[in-house]
Amino acid sequence: MRWPVVRRGTWDGREGRCSEGPDQVKETVKTGHIPRHVAIIMDGNGRWARQRGLPRTAGHRAGAEALREVVKTAAQLGIEILTLYAFSTENWKRPRAEVEALMGLLVEYLGKELDRLVKEGVRIQVIGHPEELPPQVRSELERALEATRSNDGLLVNLALNYGGRREIADAIRAIVKKALEGNLRLEDIDEGLVQSHLYTAGLPDPDLLIRPSGEMRVSNFLLWQIAYTEFWVTDVLWPDFRPYHLLEAVRAYQARDRRFGGL
Ligand code: FPP
Repeated sequence: MRWPVVRRGTWDGREGRCSEGPDQVKETVKTGHIPRHVAIIMDGNGRWARQRGLPRTAGHRAGAEALREVVKTAAQLGIEILTLYAFSTENWKRPRAEVEALMGLLVEYLGKELDRLVKEGVRIQVIGHPEELPPQVRSELERALEATRSNDGLLVNLALNYGGRREIADAIRAIVKKALEGNLRLEDIDEGLVQSHLYTAGLPDPDLLIRPSGEMRVSNFLLWQIAYTEFWVTDVLWPDFRPYHLLEAVRAYQARDRRFGGL
């Protein structure tokens, strides 16, 4: 097994403690291979709030704030796709007040950020089952999708009411339906066909998956797509995640040796 080598410059990722500033790091990172598709599990909002004696919803709010600069930096780096786990199919199990607060934050974030996202050339897409979200969230999403449709910059893929197992089950259902209707032969079913029935059809698989808050699990996120994705885990909680953490992650990625099962 080869361990990932993290090249460390004089900048160590902690703001205010570096002889090499984030801008210099950004320039260095930009000269290397930039991952096309980065996925992030935005985890740790609840712990961040608890550490400060605040309600969990304050953690989610701080998480939404953290997102703003990360999106901007991802676009500046030339990352093509940023897939963000914003609400899972399992998150409905949380107390109603927390679910409502998360839905409210989404509406607020899209409302406040849309103009800036449009200007930055960001295109927004949703994966999951947005049709099951509250009407206000749906209409705000539709507005955001419409307003950013013709942008050709960073694609922000929001995973909302998303579950990896449900995505695979949906793909199986669609494939079997075609087969039963006589539009598909069993021998047509291969990996490419499955891939083309996922919510992410047409997108490359994530190159890099970032998980803040130190958890070592995948939490039902992009189960099919992460077969050969590089993982980067940090103890930093999502509300404390800053652009320089993204730079650290990309720098670590650039030092990985990706062999996709080959030599
Ligand atoms: C997981 O942290 C985080 C979520 C379930 C929600 C993520 C949502 C946001 C960052 C804000 C809204 C999103 C957008 C796109 C505006 P957790 O609550 O499980 O944290 P914990 O494990 O510390 O309890």
